[in-house]
Formats: sequence, C-alpha cells, structure tokens
Amino acid sequence: MITINENYLKLQDSYLFSTIAKKVAEFTKNNPDKKIIKLGIGDVTRPIIPAVCDAMHKAIDEMSDIKTFRGYGPEQGYDFLREKIVEFDYKKRGIDISIDEIFVSDGAKCDTGNIGEIFGIDNIIAITDPVYPVYLDTNIMAGRTGTYDKEKDQYEGVVYIPATCENGFVPELPTKKVDMIYLCFPNNPTGTVLTKDQLAKWVEYAKENKSIILFDSAYEAFITEQDVPHSIYEIEGAKEVAIEFRSFSKTAGFTGVRCAYTVVPKELKAYTEKGEEVSLNKLWNRRQCTKFNGVPYITQRAAEAVYTELGQEQIKENINYYLENAKIILEGLKEAGYEVFGGKNAPYIWLKVPKGYTSWEFFDYLLEKANVVGTPGVGFGPSGEGYFRLTAFGSRENTIEAIERIKGITV
Ligand code: MLT
Repeated sequence: MITINENYLKLQDSYLFSTIAKKVAEFTKNNPDKKIIKLGIGDVTRPIIPAVCDAMHKAIDEMSDIKTFRGYGPEQGYDFLREKIVEFDYKKRGIDISIDEIFVSDGAKCDTGNIGEIFGIDNIIAITDPVYPVYLDTNIMAGRTGTYDKEKDQYEGVVYIPATCENGFVPELPTKKVDMIYLCFPNNPTGTVLTKDQLAKWVEYAKENKSIILFDSAYEAFITEQDVPHSIYEIEGAKEVAIEFRSFSKTAGFTGVRCAYTVVPKELKAYTEKGEEVSLNKLWNRRQCTKFNGVPYITQRAAEAVYTELGQEQIKENINYYLENAKIILEGLKEAGYEVFGGKNAPYIWLKVPKGYTSWEFFDYLLEKANVVGTPGVGFGPSGEGYFRLTAFGSRENTIEAIERIKGITV
C-alpha cells in the first residue's frame, strides 16, 4: 500500500495567497461590475527594464545559432553572473564572498524552502512572528514541527518570536536554545528593518549556540536609510553562521522571469550527531547538483544585465516608483487615521486594523466596501492578528485610487 508523507496533513488548508485568490475570484464572480484593486500578493507590475530585455533578446539569438547554442549550464550558475554578484552585491560593500559560495537558482521561495533538506530533522526552528509562510510550511512538510494547536494558532515544537508594534518590530532573542533561525529583513510582511547592531545580536546568538541563521534579504534593494544592513555579512563573523537568500524578483521585476541566488559561505559548518563538522557549502552543492539543472542561460544573461550601468539606472527608477507608492499609502492611511508601519525601506505597509475587526474581517470589509485586496496579518502568524498588509507594487494610478477608496469608507 502506498503511503503519503503525513506531515502534509498537518498543514493548514491552503497556502495563504491561494486562499486570498480564491476569495477574490468568488467576489469577482458575484460582482462582475466592480473594479478590484489588488494590493495583496507582493507581485510587481512594472515591466522588465529595457537593458534586461535587450540582453534576453541577444541570448535568444545566441541559442538559435549552432556556434553559440548552449545546453545544460552549470548547476551553480554561470560564472559571468556569479562574478557580477560577487562584485556588485558584496565586494562593493566591503564583503568578501567568493564565486563558489554563490548558487544561482530560480527563486528565493524555492531556496528558502529547499534549504531545510541539508539540516537534521530534530533541529529546533525559530521564526519571527508574523512571518513569510514558506519558512514555516516547508518545515511542517519536512516533519520538523509537531501538530497545529488551534487555540494558539501555532505549531508545537516551533519557537515563535513576536515582532509587533509593542516591541518596535524588533524580535527578541529566543530564551530557549534554537538551531535554525529564519530572519527576513527588510521584513516581509511588516516592512520594518533591523539596524546593524540589532542584527549583530542575532549573529552573536548563533555563534554562541552553534545555530544557523537563514537570512532572507529579498527586499534589500528597497533600503533607503543608513545603518540598515543590505547583507547579513556586513556583520562581523556572520559568514560562520549565516546563509543569505537574494532575489531578482523584487529588485528587477523578475517574479515571472525567475532568478535568485543563495550564498553559502565556506566557513559555514553544521554537525553530525557525533559532533563532527561538515561544510554546508559542500552539502548544498551536492543537493543542487542532484536535484537542479541550473537556471536557463537566457535568464542568467537577463540577470547579468541588471548589473550594467544602464540596468542599475533603470531598476532604480522602478524601485523608486514603488517606494513612492509606499509613501502614498503610508501618508494616505495616516491621514485616514490608521496606525501604519514599514514602507520606508520595503515595499510593504503594515497597518493596524480598526478596533472591533479581526484581520480577516477587515480583509472582507475592505474587499466588499472599497474593492481593495490586501493580506490579513494573521495569515502570516498569530502575532499578525489585528494587522493588515498592503503592497506598494501596484500601479501609481491604482495605488492612489485604492487609498482614496479606503479613505472614503467608514470603519
Ligand atoms: C508576498 O506577497 O509575500 C510575496 O509575493 C511572496 C513571495 O515573494 O513569494
């Protein structure tokens, strides 16, 4: 008899963004005349920049010529792209990362989800709460959690670290020993950041406890303030305790193109049960070579073009466009009397829902009255209850209209 991975049965019904999409589809079916504005899932709306499109066209031409055609590429990514990553994303910030510590992939979602494979099942995981659901769900699938406690809205065995307005969205260090720590800064969903000193405390904790930090910096391109680290490796000693995930999705509008990378430093070690040190770089390389055949050549040429002078200029324009949207949302909501957070170094605005509403009730109310879609905070974890997320990735026109509509409804 064929059996299943029963860990899947511990998962909540469906992935957060699928639940939202279903609700919106239902509403649209019942209200075909309503113009819905979607500021829910963090998906970009600006088209791919010309510098990237030109590079893709050129790569397509190469693929159609017998002399320049390419089949399988290196599983870790082509050197031309990895060299640019090392140079622009690290060397320019004074960080020493070598090319064989970079693993190019088709997305930070996949990488943050897959990375768990190289770690033991008994490791204790810590997540900030609220959190990007992929970190938790993939650990549930792997069997690294107990069952769901409906009352607490938490999984047994997982250490939840609240980041709420009460602690200024600065998660406190765990009071019990944890092994795998997921941090995302600039944060999804709250849009808030940590300073270098605040992040340094986590690095210190990880060193003291022989833990690993899984640092998702998919939104670093949106940082506008000084003293906010773009990479965890800006912190002294972080290469011994952290894996970093980066993505071209939000930086360069690649949500549909798919390209990202993960940095696994060679200093990074984890242990066998007997306490022997093992290189995580080697393990991840082994995993990728076995399960992944690399990102398409055309896509990697596209990503390479992001680092050209023109590419940098053009992506900056898009990032500024989204940051301006964020400002419009922040200011508009403040005027309307909402308590708002984030939005300065991130494309997400996190707001407190009006008194008397739960996150999902506010979701329904906003959809019904303003025809605006956001994401209920509780979908990101129990500490997200009472909050709501809007993204700055909409068009300018829709962003302005959504805020006008929200201002126009009474709550
Ligand atoms: C989000 O809305 O949180 C993001 O779009 C999720 C993602 O990047 O996968």
